[in-house]
Amino acid sequence: MTDAAKVSVDGKDFDYPVMSGTVGPDVVDIRKFYAQTGDFTYDPGFTSTASCQSKLTYIDGDEGVLLHRGYPIGELAENSSFMEVAYLLLNGELPEKGELAQFEHTISRHTMVHEQLATFFRGFRRDAHPMAILCGVVGALSAFYHDSTDIHDPVQRTIASHRLIAKMPTIAAMAYKYSVGQPFLYPDNSLSYTGNFLRMTFGVPAEPYEVNPAVEKAMDRIFILHADHEQNASTSTVRLAGSSGANPFACMAAGIACLWGPAHGGANEAALNMLREIGTPERIPEFIARAKDKNDPFRLMGFGHRVYKNYDPRATVMQKTVREVFDALKVNDPLFDTALRLEELALSDEYFIEKKLFPNVDFYSGVILSAIGFPTSMFTVLFALARTVGWVAQWNEMITDPDQKIGRPRQLYTGPTQRSYVPVDQR
Ligand code: ACO
Repeated sequence: MTDAAKVSVDGKDFDYPVMSGTVGPDVVDIRKFYAQTGDFTYDPGFTSTASCQSKLTYIDGDEGVLLHRGYPIGELAENSSFMEVAYLLLNGELPEKGELAQFEHTISRHTMVHEQLATFFRGFRRDAHPMAILCGVVGALSAFYHDSTDIHDPVQRTIASHRLIAKMPTIAAMAYKYSVGQPFLYPDNSLSYTGNFLRMTFGVPAEPYEVNPAVEKAMDRIFILHADHEQNASTSTVRLAGSSGANPFACMAAGIACLWGPAHGGANEAALNMLREIGTPERIPEFIARAKDKNDPFRLMGFGHRVYKNYDPRATVMQKTVREVFDALKVNDPLFDTALRLEELALSDEYFIEKKLFPNVDFYSGVILSAIGFPTSMFTVLFALARTVGWVAQWNEMITDPDQKIGRPRQLYTGPTQRSYVPVDQR
């Protein structure tokens, strides 16, 4: 604690401690505010509220900086693997060679799901959105693993964390297979985490499946870019659900539900749909005009961010990865040209400059994922798969935080004051 903040309420002064992190804005500790003043603070959307302390991820939205445990996202995306980043987020340090091999081995030993879980899939309509399936099936894991649900036992928490990280690719691939009517494939633990996922998704039992190393690398990098992002909506949902001591698998299902929304993880699907609707670069000005029109609910999907008021550093890596995937697969999707031109025009438009609206991670991810062969409905599923690492790491951090309490916001009540019940025939 460095200083104190003074707040004056009804002519009386109250002092509140100011807490400093290792970097980033200080926070005013207002935990005693209500007890002392009888008032609440008002902050819908938590735009000025730190809900917890965390050592995992740091974002400087004005400078376009994203660090995991201190390491810049660009360096991690360039040099590490998703498993390495998962280890880093969970344990605080990059693994040594032996530690990484052990971690990969452990995760690979949890990739299978209980055979009975397959019957859950068959209960969904074939045209169900894969996020609906993912949400339901991940929630259902809570009924399968009773030996890892004592959240106060660190060993059980670790097992639950490993299970979630390991089983997400299997469940995500099963959701895809179910939607296209192909048989489920069992994991092949001789492959990497990401290679295994690609095989379970695109392989078929009738033929051998060769993992394309360039696609595997690109996919792994996409997973790294989505691994964690501080106290975003879905992570806060996981923390809030977990704050009541709920089952970890059910907490992840809550995170998946939140991630599905088009203002959050669903934006990558919406961004590609938007690019398809725009079609050719000539139509871009028409859509930019619509995005600026206050009477039109249309927004440029993949643009803008609650925290980044600069280029999202993940979008930079994503844009580079598009070219790598196109080269590896020898494809050239004209939508990428449309996306590049849209970015160029938007970034030179006064509306976007003034509001500091830049491309976010979702702007280019759809173009890549579509080139790899994923239908748009799977995009948010891939995001959920990667973000599970962040959710699990944040959930563990919350449970071990001595300041942790059940999340219970207050409100400004604007409804009727107390009144007497009137029988129905007298109304
Ligand atoms: N297109 C056009 N205008 C926009 C856009 C956009 N994509 N994003 C924000 N604005 C405008 C708003 O209309 C608002 O204008 P006003 O001040 O005149 O009312 C202003 O910019 C601020 O926007 P808010 O919605 O108040 O900002 P907020 O921080 O609440 O929203 C959000 C951030 C939800 C990401 C928003 O920028 C958006 O809807 N973007 C499109 C969806 C998207 O890409 N989401 C992905 C986020 S990244 C992720 O989840 C991985």
